[in-house]
Amino acid sequence: MKKFNFHIKPIGLLDMLEFKKAVPKRRAVLQSGSLDPITAVYGVNRLAQSMHPKQQKAVVAGIIPRKDANTYILRAPKLAYFRAGQYVSVKLDIGGAAVSRPYTLAASPALALEGEYQITVKKAQDGFVSEYIIDNWQLGTDVTLSGPEGPFSYEPMRDEYEVVGLAGGSGITPFMAMANAILDGTENFRLTLLYGSRTKEDILYAEELEKICAATDKVKVIHVLSEEEAEGFEHGFIGADLIRKYAPEKYSLYVCGPRAMHDFLAGELAALGLDQKHIRREFVPAPASPVYFSEYAGDASKVFTLTLQILGETKQIPLRADEPVLTAIERAGIAAPSRCRSGECGWCRSRLTGGEVFIPASMDGRRFADHAAGYIHPCSTWALSDLELEIFPE
Ligand code: FES
Repeated sequence: MKKFNFHIKPIGLLDMLEFKKAVPKRRAVLQSGSLDPITAVYGVNRLAQSMHPKQQKAVVAGIIPRKDANTYILRAPKLAYFRAGQYVSVKLDIGGAAVSRPYTLAASPALALEGEYQITVKKAQDGFVSEYIIDNWQLGTDVTLSGPEGPFSYEPMRDEYEVVGLAGGSGITPFMAMANAILDGTENFRLTLLYGSRTKEDILYAEELEKICAATDKVKVIHVLSEEEAEGFEHGFIGADLIRKYAPEKYSLYVCGPRAMHDFLAGELAALGLDQKHIRREFVPAPASPVYFSEYAGDASKVFTLTLQILGETKQIPLRADEPVLTAIERAGIAAPSRCRSGECGWCRSRLTGGEVFIPASMDGRRFADHAAGYIHPCSTWALSDLELEIFPE
């Protein structure tokens, strides 16, 4: 075996003298330095701000109509780069209500470098916001967006080279970004996509998917129809058997779709015996009412009062028991911070100082310390009584 000999030299008198000689040199350097105050913004801060802006402005430069949905092409001289699978939060003023909704960026990140994003808004996806966008956005409409957000993106250090994507309905959008990014070389992995739709007519991006699959063997799409039987299509719901049929030996699994699909898949995925680190689920926004959750024991017909503390000011607003606390704040025209609207990102984090709330376990993304200190995420919290809340605007 090879031996290593280390020789550690003790600090001696000569070293001390050298050190002493260095002191006047250092003083001279310090005294010759500029007396200008330290700059408030460094180049690196500017770079970080441009990569992670809190707000971006864009204009609607194109509209692609689809069945019950529109894809909006948004342009600006400069837009932040993103990872395929991330989303932006769209900010809107609808009749005095300051609302926001997250929409996944559906085109390749490479297009962001040319000042283009694409989002697809499906009708009745979340009620009045998607309806408002479809009815009001036209060519030239100014749009306000957050920076790109969210962890639903491929990570080569964590994920297998083979990825199986499970998409339902408009949950196809992050996989469109991934497929486009694979096609143009921005991402390097193989994607097998099981895409569930009700009928052939309901398939979003049908032509685009076909073109991508024809252009690269790294993307494969299997359509699964729940309400129609057709040759060349799988029939039923995406479950463990179908995943086993198409999945390679080793893979990471990505899931994006409606809440009912996630709930159905919970048991199915357990049967696959995958390591948890190989299962990625996209956030699912809050349902229309808390009665969706079996553990809800409140009276959703009640209207309470919310007493808000904002930057030292106190406001009182009505608080419906059947909608998330964040919606009540927005309805009152107060611009509360938010991004994911599903309890996960923490942007809406607020301090509950009084009252009883319902937070479903499946939407409780709070850190342990926040939980213990009485903080809540109003986007995934429903009132069970009058509430007192402190919010922290951006
Ligand atoms: S908006 Fe993300 S946790 Fe509330």
